Amino acid sequence: MIKEQRKAKAKAIAVKLAYVILLLLTYTLGYLVASYPSSSPYPPLSHTSAPSIVQLANLPNQLDHFRVTTHCADRPVQPGLVRQTILDRVFNSTSPYQDFPPPHVRGRLRPKRIKGWGSNGAVFENLIRKVKPRTIIEVGTFLGASAIHMANLTRQLGLQTQILCIDDFRGWPGFRDRFRDISMVNGDVLLLHQFMQNVVSVNFTDSVLPVPFSTGSVLDKLCEWGIFGDLIEVDAGHDFNSAWSDINRAYRILRPGGVLFGHDYFTAAADRGVKRAVTLFARVHNLKIRIDGQHWVMDPA
Ligand SMILES: C[S@@+](CC[C@H](N)C(=O)[O-])C[C@H]1O[C@@H](n2cnc3c(N)ncnc32)[C@H](O)[C@@H]1O
Repeated sequence: MIKEQRKAKAKAIAVKLAYVILLLLTYTLGYLVASYPSSSPYPPLSHTSAPSIVQLANLPNQLDHFRVTTHCADRPVQPGLVRQTILDRVFNSTSPYQDFPPPHVRGRLRPKRIKGWGSNGAVFENLIRKVKPRTIIEVGTFLGASAIHMANLTRQLGLQTQILCIDDFRGWPGFRDRFRDISMVNGDVLLLHQFMQNVVSVNFTDSVLPVPFSTGSVLDKLCEWGIFGDLIEVDAGHDFNSAWSDINRAYRILRPGGVLFGHDYFTAAADRGVKRAVTLFARVHNLKIRIDGQHWVMDPA
């Protein structure tokens, strides 16, 4: 009898305990749901009135992460007007070589200081002979070694070619370890000026023009302004994201029949950066990659 009473008592305690645990669990769950924000990035829409078109247009969307909504010009600028268009849009209609060098850098530049990487490879002559470009866009110029080589080639072939050199002329963090001789004025390294001095020294100021901005911003602008390239060389940032962005943006401003190519396909850094970006891009767009020396060349399949 006592045994049965004990059993009943234990059962009653177990049931009470179960209720308490259930209560605690429900409470905890309710607390958690109330204190965490909704995973949706969108603000809640009022159910009482429909959203306006402006509200809808301004809702966050996937393109915000990439900002690639630039509308490219409907009509390309004629090759003969490319230089003047850049002068007007970027340099207040005045050649940057006018009155060069300015007093504050005079005496700080070397008469000629040219250094590049694979900048004289046969690929340049092969492509220039094949495409006979009127407009070349170089994405990543540094001191102008490859740009000056291309200017030489186009001159030898009697072509009327304008070469636009896109570079922020900042180099990269740490580049001064190897280029200490390039002067700095109040923290501003004179890379743009030394590049321009190099161009002056070989008398190519009429055919080689700096476009001193970050690649991402200016490639989109060229598209908006209607400036397209017959030959575009990509040789700026070598990490995957930079190369991927530059290649995608450059491809949008490549004239039909033009050729996109770039430096570095074999180094360890290229393997994780440039090479992956090039390979992925070619696969997505059904293009063939050809290797010419140290360069990759994207040919229409
Ligand atoms: C390897 S160097 C170019 C060498 C040149 N093509 C040659 O062969 O003589 C790379 C250049 O890309 C530029 N660069 C890198 N990332 C850039 C970016 N996001 N925007 C503009 N320039 C960039 C650097 O300033 C540097 O001058």
